[in-house]
Amino acid sequence: MKSYYKVLSTSMFSLMLLSSAVPGSVFAAEQPAAQVSSSTEVAKDNSSTQNADALQEQTPILVDQASIPAVIQAMTLDEKVDLIGGAGAAVTGAAGGTFAIPRLGIPKLTFADGPAGLRFGSTANKSTTGFPIPTALSSSFNKDLMYNVASAMGKETLDYGVDVILGPALNIHRDPRGGRNFEYYSEDPVLSGEMAAQFTKGVQDQGVGVSMKHFAANNQETNRQSVNEIISERALREIYLAGFERVVKEAKPWTVMSSYNSINGPFSAHNSWLLNDVLRSDWGFNGMVMTDWGGSKNNGTAMLNGGNDLSMPSLNAVGKAAVKAAILDGSLPEEKLDTAIENILTLVVKSPTFKQLSTVDNSKLSVSSDLAAADAKLSREAAPEGMVLLKNENKALPFDKKVKKVGIVGNSYTMPSCGFGTPASACTTDNAASKMFLMGTGSAYVTPTHSVQLPEGLINGGYIPVKTNAGGAEINENLTAEDSAYMAQNSDIGVIVIARGSGEGADGNATTFEPSAKESALIQKVSAAYHAVNKKVVVVLNVGAPFNTVSWRDSVDSILLSWQPGMEAGNALTDVLSGKAYPSGKLPETFPVRLEDAPSYANFPSSDGNPNLVKYQEDIYVGYRYYSTFNVKPAYEFGYGLSYTTFDYSDFKLNKDNLSTKIKVSFKVTNTGTNAGKEAPQLYVSAPDGKLEKPALELKAFGKTRELKPGQKETFNFFIDPKDIASFDQSTSLWIVEKGTYKFKIGASSADIKGTIEFKVDNNIVAEVDNNNGPDVLLDRISKFNQ
Ligand code: BGC
Repeated sequence: MKSYYKVLSTSMFSLMLLSSAVPGSVFAAEQPAAQVSSSTEVAKDNSSTQNADALQEQTPILVDQASIPAVIQAMTLDEKVDLIGGAGAAVTGAAGGTFAIPRLGIPKLTFADGPAGLRFGSTANKSTTGFPIPTALSSSFNKDLMYNVASAMGKETLDYGVDVILGPALNIHRDPRGGRNFEYYSEDPVLSGEMAAQFTKGVQDQGVGVSMKHFAANNQETNRQSVNEIISERALREIYLAGFERVVKEAKPWTVMSSYNSINGPFSAHNSWLLNDVLRSDWGFNGMVMTDWGGSKNNGTAMLNGGNDLSMPSLNAVGKAAVKAAILDGSLPEEKLDTAIENILTLVVKSPTFKQLSTVDNSKLSVSSDLAAADAKLSREAAPEGMVLLKNENKALPFDKKVKKVGIVGNSYTMPSCGFGTPASACTTDNAASKMFLMGTGSAYVTPTHSVQLPEGLINGGYIPVKTNAGGAEINENLTAEDSAYMAQNSDIGVIVIARGSGEGADGNATTFEPSAKESALIQKVSAAYHAVNKKVVVVLNVGAPFNTVSWRDSVDSILLSWQPGMEAGNALTDVLSGKAYPSGKLPETFPVRLEDAPSYANFPSSDGNPNLVKYQEDIYVGYRYYSTFNVKPAYEFGYGLSYTTFDYSDFKLNKDNLSTKIKVSFKVTNTGTNAGKEAPQLYVSAPDGKLEKPALELKAFGKTRELKPGQKETFNFFIDPKDIASFDQSTSLWIVEKGTYKFKIGASSADIKGTIEFKVDNNIVAEVDNNNGPDVLLDRISKFNQ
């Protein structure tokens, strides 16, 4: 074991030497490291009063990666213990920051949320661009769009002097009631992982870091700090960890945030199998791991043993004292503390603060005007790409050229939990047609630079919104039959907005999924009134999670799922309704007919009557994997979404006869309709059952066309390697491609398969060996072998 006393005495000696040699104080304390180009240079500046070589040897300054070991050597135990706990942010309103040690040239870094745009607590009054919620962005199935939005967020992060943005968030949409699903991408790990990889690249290419979160399986809000989730290693590796693995391998995130919950026993922040074995050893992650806010439970020793480097937003005095005592009595090897320090300092030397790429100006209350303008435009353009057209009969959309007056009315809704740091006004609406939910709340809430609601958007688009009754009062969900008749007579089309806000801190339930009696009546009254005068009705779903459409969808002409479309909501919606833009999103999660149909239903948010226990009995059958395998018909399937035009798929080819290298699946998509549009083709694989059972379908690749005008086509080439089609055999820790016939299915959705190509594998192939077997878990699981 390294001698603590030796390090301490060296540091003390350095301090004495410096304080006697430099008048007033230690030079490093006055000068942040980032302003010091090298310790040699600094020593030269002081050469008249001291011996430069001795100074450099005794008081290393953090200048680059190579200087880290010497800096660690020079740290006192107290300094080390201070550094593994957060210490407030330099940028006010940000979520947190690291501890600065000026004498060693270690500056403070600032971390700010989050996955839906750079966030400062609402009282800080700092505005940034409010983009569409992450679920809406993943509905675009457009990797380039995701990259561009993330690049914009990265630029805003740098603009405010923040070092790390606390996103992407990529937990799996395990259950439609998951309170933070809106902040996550999908029920599928390939879509989630690919979108999060693009987010990571987009942000980090701007010179700021991401914190990929919440690692792992933070799939519910109820008891998120205390719940123990029992999950098989196969389900973990194939579903709940797979997206994170993709991001680590493809995009190298600077940091990872461990989740609050426990997985098979230990809290994630204390889970050595999760953080040391899987994340670092199996996947090769070499960045820093921080806890979620309060996730270390102030147990620094368990955190360091678990492979978690930094406790955020702090480690309290008791936690620090315990780490110190454990080092001194030898029960915690100092190497573990040093490893955490090394990971933290590696982040520091990469940071914009350290490199002086950014400055902190706490009087700055708005993102710089050039960014604000470009990003508002991007937010408006991104929203339609994620809007999903669920139904469009009688060509209700886009609006007919004759439409001038648009009758609008919406529901009233107050969220079950507002989420911390969010103004109450963002969590409630009296009439969603006038005030829809622009984004989610809690740590994903952004104070937008401006916002555009639907009435203003319609006016900007040249329409006249009709929203008052004959007496001039604004019509809301309490409208009378006379009000709806008045609306129908005095406008050319009806738009009903049904809203559900989404936020951190509470899960959904039947009332978030089902329309209320008032909402059902609203839809029925308005539809009857418009249809009575031969006019059409569109419902806009302003939600962050699946919503039940089954009881009312036959009554309306169109259903447009806008999600929470960001601060430009009104403009973006008007673009889509009018046909200036078109919706091209596909569902990143299944919309079930009933909540009870979800395979997780009985085990959400707890199992066996124990509020702190959740059994993942659905195992690998998450989302469409379950619905397609067990023939449960959803309301709208994963990958579903209509367009203003039609597409044809053709020329399906597969160009390999064995799996020694990647196989290439190619096909063409042609716009066969009369409008421009974009299509998101999906490649699924049906693997043969062997020793391991396989879901009926699994997404392996996806893409998005450029804008195709009528008649235009685009060729896709998807490359698949053995790991992509392998399954995890936990009895051997092998990813294995079992022999048999694989069906490659190219589809417009998981249920709308356009072409199938078969591929035969003659012998079992080991695609990857993972060395770190997880704990054995006793769990009754859904299995098609038991049916
Ligand atoms: C959330 C994280 C967030 C952190 C800091 C926690 O409550 O779970 O996602 O990054 O707060 O705001």
